[in-house]
Formats: sequence, C-alpha cells, structure tokens
Amino acid sequence: MIYSARIPEVENSILSDILKITEDPSVISFAGGLPASESFPVDAIAKACERVLSDNAAAALQYSATMGVAPLREWIAAYRSTPARTLHPDEVMIVSGSQQALDLLGKLFLDPGDGVIVERPTYLGAIEALALYQPNFYTVDSDVEGARPDLLTVDVLQKSKLMYLQPNFQNPTGLVMSAKRREEIASFMATQDNLYLVEDDPYGELWFHEAPPANISSLSERSILLGTFSKVLSPGLRLGYIIADKKIIRALEQVKQAVDLHTSTFGQLVALETLKSLSLQTHLGEVREFYRGRAQAMEESLRQYMGPNVRWNSPQGGMFIWLTLPEGRDTYAVLQKALDAKVAYVPGLLFYTDTPEQHTLRLSFVTVGEEKIRTGIQALAQIFTD
Ligand SMILES: Cc1ncc(COP(=O)(O)O)c(C=O)c1O
Repeated sequence: MIYSARIPEVENSILSDILKITEDPSVISFAGGLPASESFPVDAIAKACERVLSDNAAAALQYSATMGVAPLREWIAAYRSTPARTLHPDEVMIVSGSQQALDLLGKLFLDPGDGVIVERPTYLGAIEALALYQPNFYTVDSDVEGARPDLLTVDVLQKSKLMYLQPNFQNPTGLVMSAKRREEIASFMATQDNLYLVEDDPYGELWFHEAPPANISSLSERSILLGTFSKVLSPGLRLGYIIADKKIIRALEQVKQAVDLHTSTFGQLVALETLKSLSLQTHLGEVREFYRGRAQAMEESLRQYMGPNVRWNSPQGGMFIWLTLPEGRDTYAVLQKALDAKVAYVPGLLFYTDTPEQHTLRLSFVTVGEEKIRTGIQALAQIFTD
C-alpha cells in the first residue's frame, strides 16, 4: 500500500455512505449533525460582508496572523471569560472549525501508542481526527453525573496524554455533566502532570431551559477548551477557537502555521462584524426556541410510536437524542431497511472506540421540520419493532 500506515484501510467510512444517501432530498435525515439552515443569521452576515469589503478590503483579502485576527481573539476572550477565570487574548487561537483543533492537538501531543481517554460513546469526528495519530484509546466510565476519571487505573493515566470530554449536551448522547462532577474533575486534573483535559464545547450555548454549569476549563489550568461558531452562526464559516495556556497556544501556533498558515481572514472579519451588529443573545434565544420546538416534536413522536422498550434521555439542549433499543437489537443491521424507507440515522456502533453497544443509535432533531420528524419516527418505529 502506497499510503502511510496512519491511514485507515477502509476506503469509505459508513458515515460517508450514510451522508451521501441523505443528499437525496426525499430522504428524511436524522443522521448528520447539521444545524437548521433556518437558524443562520443570513441578513446580518450579508451586511457584515458588505461592510468588511467597503471598510476593510485590503486587510480582509490579505494573509493574516496564524493565531487569528486580534479583535476576534479579544472578542472571544471576553465572551468566554468567567468570574473564576479572566482570559487574555493570547490564550485564544482561531482555528478552521473545532474539527481542526482536534487535528492540531493530535499533531502537537500524540506519538503512536500514546493514550487518549474518551467517554463511551463519544464524538465520531474526534475518534477519526485523533486516530490518524495512532494513539491507543482508553475509555472512562460514567455515572449519572458524568465521566469518572477517578476510576481510571494508574497504568492508563501514566500512558495517557489527553482526556477528551464534552460536558455540555454531549454528541451523541445529549447528556450534561453535573456541576459537582465538573469540580471533581478540575480537582482530579490538578493531581495529573502528564495529562491534559480537552473540553469540547460546541453545544453549551444551545440550552433549552437553563444554561449548563460552568466549563471545567474555567476551573482547571490543565485544560484546553474547544469552541466554535458553527452552531451559533453557521458551520460554513468554518470558524472555531482553542482556549489554553499561553505556552500551549504558542506551540499550537507553530503547528497551525505548518498546516494552513491561518484561518480565512475574510471569514474572521465577517464573523466579528456579524457578532458586533447582531444581538448574539437575542439570536441565540431564537435558535434555542426553535431547537426546543423540534426536540419536543421528536420526543412526542418517539412517545407516540416507539414501544415501551425503547429508551432515551429527554434532551435539555444541543442537537441529539440517543436511543437505546432492547438488548440484542442491532441498529447497524437494520440501517439499510431504514434507508430503503427513506429515513437515515447514525447507528450507535460508530461512536465507540471499544466494544460497541449495537442496540443504540443517534438521532439529530434539528435538521428537518416537525412534519418530517413525525413521518420519519413513525417509519423507524416500524423497522425497530419488526
Ligand atoms: C462534539 C463536536 N466537536 C467538534 C465538532 C466540529 O465542529 P466544527 O468543526 O464545525 O467547529 C462537532 C461537529 O458536529 C461536534 O459535534
């Protein structure tokens, strides 16, 4: 094989196949993690583009600093500062989506065989990005409050460099970690000298009833926070950020410079201009309301059509519902049936780095409208109870 040993042998991932099928507009897709396009602040972005080009074209169309444009870093530092931790812009680096952050962290930290600790299940994109650096994945058990790193063995902790967690509306389960557990994890991290916490937080702003507790990163210096504008403004902008200790940010700067020099200057300035003109809290309020409606519609349909043996957690925010069918069911095996019925979901097995729970699946409740949600869930219920 001419490709490097890092490249997985499978030519196409199951997910790419599912996503290809869902390009067919007649398919009701609960599969992709696509924000609702109705939620994009199109007018504000259009006006921001005009303003950037009329006021600042020479800078906007030019190369810029690897760390990101200073005023956007300042904006993010202020936005993400908390009473417990005031951020300096030098602790912020702009990246091309938090997906790029995962890749940069893999490049910076991981040699083949290094340990990465993940929840089970966890975000497929993180597994894929980090797997390219050939780590050994270890899993951390969870209870109702969230991950329990205190249960990890000394051996695993000694071998591991990164622990990847999503405390807010986790992808794929939608679960939120309790405030107490966040504090416990911050204290736990203070006892570690080889391990960094990667706290990925794309969904924290998308709460329905109350904001989740403070990020672990605001309590722990051994943490790297990943944020993104994908779910707040639009994923097509490809804008995310990393918040970490200045030393780590400086090291990441070297890595990113080698990868792509910098994230689009134009995109950064447009995002900044949009954030200045838009009332972000009003916009977020609308997105939350909209997503809450869709989550409710999906839950109502699940209650109506799925039998008593199908379980899920009522989502309190984010974009996903995680379904657990009776033990012994295999959601991958019946996926083709669902696709034939023109409904798509992601089988749970993709979200595990170790033995998967085959009777699970992830549904996104944000991408399609309420009527399609009902039709799609009814069709799935028939397939799952056949
Ligand atoms: C948990 C998680 N992390 C990271 C990403 C990547 O987001 P982006 O690269 O658009 O910022 C996603 C996207 O769905 C996600 O669910």
